[in-house]
Amino acid sequence: MDFTLTEEHQMVRKMVRDFAEKEIAPHIKEQDRKQEFDRSLLTKMGQQGILGICIPVKYGGAGMDYLSLAIACEELERVDTAARVIMSVHVGLNSLTLFQWGTQEQKQKYLVPQAAGVKFATYALTEPNAGSDAVGIQTTARREGDHYVLNGEKMWISLADVADHFLIIAWSDMEKKRKRDHSGMSAFIVERGSPGLATDTIHGKLGVRAGNTGSITLTDCVVPAANLLGREGEGFKIAMSALDGGRYTVGAGAVGLIQACLEASVRYANERQAFGAPIGHHQLVQQMIAKMVQRLEIGRLLSYQAGWLKNQGKRNTRETSLAKWTNCDAAFDSAADAVQIHGAYGYSDEYDVERYLRNSKGAVIYEGSREIHQLVQAQYALGYREDKPLRCELPAYDPEEWQSES
Ligand code: CAA
Repeated sequence: MDFTLTEEHQMVRKMVRDFAEKEIAPHIKEQDRKQEFDRSLLTKMGQQGILGICIPVKYGGAGMDYLSLAIACEELERVDTAARVIMSVHVGLNSLTLFQWGTQEQKQKYLVPQAAGVKFATYALTEPNAGSDAVGIQTTARREGDHYVLNGEKMWISLADVADHFLIIAWSDMEKKRKRDHSGMSAFIVERGSPGLATDTIHGKLGVRAGNTGSITLTDCVVPAANLLGREGEGFKIAMSALDGGRYTVGAGAVGLIQACLEASVRYANERQAFGAPIGHHQLVQQMIAKMVQRLEIGRLLSYQAGWLKNQGKRNTRETSLAKWTNCDAAFDSAADAVQIHGAYGYSDEYDVERYLRNSKGAVIYEGSREIHQLVQAQYALGYREDKPLRCELPAYDPEEWQSES
C-alpha cells in the first residue's frame, strides 16, 4: 500500500485550493446571506479545468484520475459546500454516468462540452413524493415514433435552474411501474430548451444558500429517442451507478468540511482566552479538536479507498456508501463542535462555523440519507446484498489513454 499522493495530486490540491481561496472565499459570506447563486463560478470552474478533472482529454477533460476528483471536492468544500455540490451533480452524477453508459455520439454531443466546462449538467431522480424510495418515482416516458414524451416533476435538484443538460430518470414501462419492477425505468438526456421543460428555484433552505436547488417540471416534454441513455429498462441501474459517482464526491467533500472546522477551531482556540489561558489549553476543547482530527483522518482514508477502487476499475458501491455515510455524519458532528468551541460567536455569522453547520446537514439527507446507507451496509454484512457486474462498467483510470487526444 502506498499512502503518498503523487506530484499530480499535490498539484491538483494546490490549484483547487488557490482557486477556491481567490474566487470563492472573498464573496461566500455575502452570497450565502443573500441566498444568491453566482453563475460566473460555473464558468470560472470550467475555465480552470475543474469541471472535467477526471474525464479523458479526448472527451474534453483534464485526464486526471478519480482520486483527483476527491481532492478537488475536498478543497472546494473546505471553502464552501455550494462549490462542491456543483461537482457532485455536474461531474459525479452526470458526466461520469455519460462516460460509463453513453454512446460515442452522446459522449461527443454532451460529455465533451460538459468536461470542457462550457455546458453545465445535473441529474434528476428525486421527486416531491419519492426520495429514498427511488422506485416510487412517478415521472413517465412514453415512446412516440422517434422520440419520447416525458411527464412528471423532479424536486430538490441541484443546479435545476441553471443547468443546460439534465439526466432524467423515468418509467418507460407502465405495467412494470404498477408492479414497482425497476426494470421498467429508463434514463434520458434532456436539454434545456426542450419543449415542455420548465425549471424553478427553491428558496428558504437551511444551508447551501449560495447554491442553486430547484425543481423541474416536464409537461409533454419531447426528447429524441437518440437521447435514451443505455437501453430501455436500464434506468434504475444507471441511476444507482450515477449515485456511486455522486456519493463519492459528497463523501470526499465532507472531508474538506471537517478540515475547515478543524482549521477554524484551532485558530480560535489559540486566540480566545478563558480562565487565564487560551481555550486550547482546556481539556474539553482539546477533546473536540482531537475528534475532528480523528474524523478527518478516517474520512480521508475511506474516501481515498473508494477513489483507489475506481482507479482500478473495481466495483466500489459498498465502500463509496461507507465513505459517504461516515464522512457526512462526521462533518455534521465536527461543525457542531466547531460552533461549540466558538461559543456565542459561533452562533452568529461573524464566523464561518455557523455556515459550516448549516451546510453540513444537507449531505446527511441527500444522495442516500444516513438511514439508507446504514441499511445498505447492514445488508452487505448480512449477505442480503451483493453487487452484480454491469453491462457498462465505469472505465478504470489509464494515464496514457486518458491524456491522449484521440
Ligand atoms: N450500480 C448499478 N446497479 C445497481 C447498483 C449500483 N450501485 N445498486 C443496485 N444496482 C442494481 C442491482 O444489482 C439490482 O439489479 P437486478 O434487479 O438485476 O438484481 C437492481 O439495481 C436493484 O437493486 P437493489 O435490489 O439493491 O435495489 P433496492 O430497491 O434494494 O435499492 C435503495 C434500495 C438502496 C434504498 C435505493 O433505492 C437507494 O439508494 N435509494 C436512495 C436514492 C438516493 O440516493 N436518492 C438521491 C438522489 S439525488 C437527486 O436526485 C437530487 C440532486 O440534487 C441531484
